[in-house]
Amino acid sequence: MFRRWRTAALLLGGALLGASCSNDADQLFYEFGEESQLTSHEWRGKELFLRYCAGCHGEKGNGKGPAAAFLEPKPRDFTRGVFKFRSTPSSSLPTDADLVRTIREGVHGTSMPAWKDLPDAEVQSIVAYVKTLSKRFKREKPAPALSLPGAPVDIDSPERIARGKQVYADLKCGLCHGDGGKGDGPSAAKLVDSEGNPIVPFDFTRKAPKGGSRPEDLYRTFMTGLAGTPMPDFAETTSDDTQRFDLVAFVRSLRVNAGAQAKESR
Ligand code: HEC
Ligand code: HEC
Repeated sequence: MFRRWRTAALLLGGALLGASCSNDADQLFYEFGEESQLTSHEWRGKELFLRYCAGCHGEKGNGKGPAAAFLEPKPRDFTRGVFKFRSTPSSSLPTDADLVRTIREGVHGTSMPAWKDLPDAEVQSIVAYVKTLSKRFKREKPAPALSLPGAPVDIDSPERIARGKQVYADLKCGLCHGDGGKGDGPSAAKLVDSEGNPIVPFDFTRKAPKGGSRPEDLYRTFMTGLAGTPMPDFAETTSDDTQRFDLVAFVRSLRVNAGAQAKESR
C-alpha cells in the first residue's frame, strides 16, 4: 500500500520533472553570469540536480518544484540551510557524509526517494552543489560529528524496554507523541515546522522513522534532534548511553507490539 503510494509520488515527480527540465539549456545560459563562481564539480552537480531533484526541490533549491504542491511533507528548502538528518549537534550544518546518507537512503514514509543507483561521483557532485544553495555553508563549517556507539546486544530485552518506558515518561515525550506513542499527545495538533507548515509528531506504533529504524539511527536522532521541527535533541536531558538506548528500546517495542512490520532493514 505504502509502496504503491510512493511509486505514484515518484512517477508524478518524474513526470513534472521532465516538463520542468525542457528548458535546462536556456536556464543554464541565462544564469551563467551569476553562477560563474561554481567549480566544475559544483556545475556538474547542478546539471544533475536539475535533472533529478528540481521537480520537487525546485530549480533554485527553494523547495518549490512543480511537484511540491502535491506533496506532504514538503520537499526541503535548501536555501535555508536547516537540515533534519545529521550526525552533528542540534544547531550545526550536516556533514557531507550525512547528505550522502540521506540521498542514498531517502526519507522513509515521504516522497524523498532513495537514490541507490547513482554513481558515487555524481552523488558527491550533487552534494557539492546543494551546499552552494545556502550561504550558511560559506560562513560556517559543520561541527564535528558526534561519536555514535553501536547498539548494545540486549537492545530488545524486557528490562531495557521497561526502563525506557520510565525515561519516556520522565522526559515527557508523551506531550507530543502521546502516552501510547501514537503521535496524539496534547500538544500534537498545534505543531508547525520552521517553515510554518503543520507537522505531526511521529506515530511509533505504525511507521518506520524517517531517519532510519536501526537502533543506531534512533540513537543519532535523539542526540541530534530534527532541526527545523519541534523534535528536540536529548543529548543534555538524558544522563548517559544506557538511558539513551533504553529509550531507543522502548520506542522500538511500541512498533513491534502494535504488530507493525518491523522487517525493514532501516
Ligand atoms: C519526489 C520528490 C523528491 C525528489 C525527486 C527529491 N526529493 Fe529530496 N526530499 C523530498 C521531500 C518531501 C523531503 C522532506 C522529507 C521530510 O522533511 O521529512 C526531502 C528531503 C531531502 C533532504 C533532507 C534534508 C534534511 O533535512 O536533512 C535532502 C538532503 C534531499 N531531499 C536531497 C535530494 C536530492 C539531492 C535529490 C535529487 C538527487 C532529491 N532530494 C530529490 C522530496 C524529493
Ligand atoms: C515538542 C514536541 C515533541 C517532543 C516533546 C518530542 N518529540 Fe519526537 N518528534 C516530534 C515531531 C514533530 C516529530 C516529527 C518530525 C518530522 O516528521 O520531521 C518527531 C519525531 C520523532 C521520532 C522519529 C524520528 C524519525 O527519524 O522520523 C522519534 C523516534 C521521536 N520523535 C522520539 C521522541 C522521544 C523518545 C521523545 C522524548 C524523549 C520525543 N520524541 C519528544 C515532536 C516531539
